[in-house]
Amino acid sequence: MNKIEIACLPGDGVGIEVMASAKQVLQKAADMHGGVQFSMTDFPWGSDHYIETGAMMPEDGIERLKEFDAVFLGAVGNPAVVPDHISLWGMLIKIRRELELSLNVRPARLIKGIQSPLRSPKDFDLIVVRENSEGEYSEAGGVIHNGQNEIAVQNGIFTRKATERAMRYAFELARTRGKKVTSATKSNGIVHSMPFWDRVFQETAKDYPDIETSSAHIDALSAFFVTKPESFDVIVASNLFGDILTDIGSAVMGSIGIAPSANLNVEGTYPSMFEPVHGSAPDIAGQGKANPIGQIWTAKMMLDHLGYTDLGQAILDATEEVTESGIKTADIQGTSSTEEVTQAILSTLQKKG
Ligand SMILES: NC(=O)c1ccc[n+]([C@@H]2O[C@H](COP(=O)([O-])OP(=O)(O)OC[C@H]3O[C@@H](n4cnc5c(N)ncnc54)[C@H](O)[C@@H]3O)[C@@H](O)[C@H]2O)c1
Repeated sequence: MNKIEIACLPGDGVGIEVMASAKQVLQKAADMHGGVQFSMTDFPWGSDHYIETGAMMPEDGIERLKEFDAVFLGAVGNPAVVPDHISLWGMLIKIRRELELSLNVRPARLIKGIQSPLRSPKDFDLIVVRENSEGEYSEAGGVIHNGQNEIAVQNGIFTRKATERAMRYAFELARTRGKKVTSATKSNGIVHSMPFWDRVFQETAKDYPDIETSSAHIDALSAFFVTKPESFDVIVASNLFGDILTDIGSAVMGSIGIAPSANLNVEGTYPSMFEPVHGSAPDIAGQGKANPIGQIWTAKMMLDHLGYTDLGQAILDATEEVTESGIKTADIQGTSSTEEVTQAILSTLQKKG
């Protein structure tokens, strides 16, 4: 029996509700497999912990997370009692930085039974690999002088190491999928970092002659995500460009409540962290309305990362069967509760197993 240690951080609001759903699905997947055990340890960190102790997580929290094979997070934030900058920087961003989670990976695909806002969507299935440690989101720069003379300088940082790491990951991923990588660039407007990005992309591509490559400027690429998302397989992007593209990807799927993501430590020095794209949704928290699919699909990404791709696929197939049958939460035009959707996914998995 292979034992996988998972640190579960439900967080706040609907994070707690959808985490409970995804844990049941993981348990069912392990039962179906028979040769793996998911040992899930809960850490009740987040806004309540902040109110009780003055910190979102304990001082040794990061060291404790390092002991695990993966970190599984719900959502963090309760702006009525803790300002967002404290909850985000005190936990989410702290974990992302200290566990060196340098890539953010987010798929977007048309799910049966879920209406995309696109008028006639074709069967798109894409995945964005976003460089998540540097680029445009750097702290290098500053603001000097006052009044009319005030100057703000914001520097982008692009290292060969991080750029190539993101690109190699994208190429390796494409090998397991549609064998196409598109690079998001803007070398017609950003004259230093983006020509460098293009050059590293061309050099890296030479090691992957089996992969079809293309580059597109981020403005056109954003439009193509809306007009022809089916033409993409893997897209590699810098921090800012990836941030924008992944939000468009979530939007064309139909609801933020279904979008999953992985924050990866590619070198494997520390555990990677898996979290849905949505936040703690205080407007619907505690009402049993939250869509659990984002968290459940995120569990599938975690299983893929841990090497259990068959189990991950079984979870996604069962989820899609349930949405196609019409058992859906309100955000995707359904009338079912979190619990009803969860139970339907569990019984579909049971039938498959
Ligand atoms: N990764 C994270 O933990 C994360 C991400 C984004 C926001 N936040 C935090 O969450 C809090 C709320 O932020 P927000 O309102 O801007 O974003 P949000 O994602 O929580 O909610 C945006 C909208 O989407 C809906 N929604 C979100 N998740 C849903 C789900 N699973 N099912 C159905 N509907 C869902 C909400 O009801 C709301 O209308 C803030 O404190 C914010 O800082 C955390």
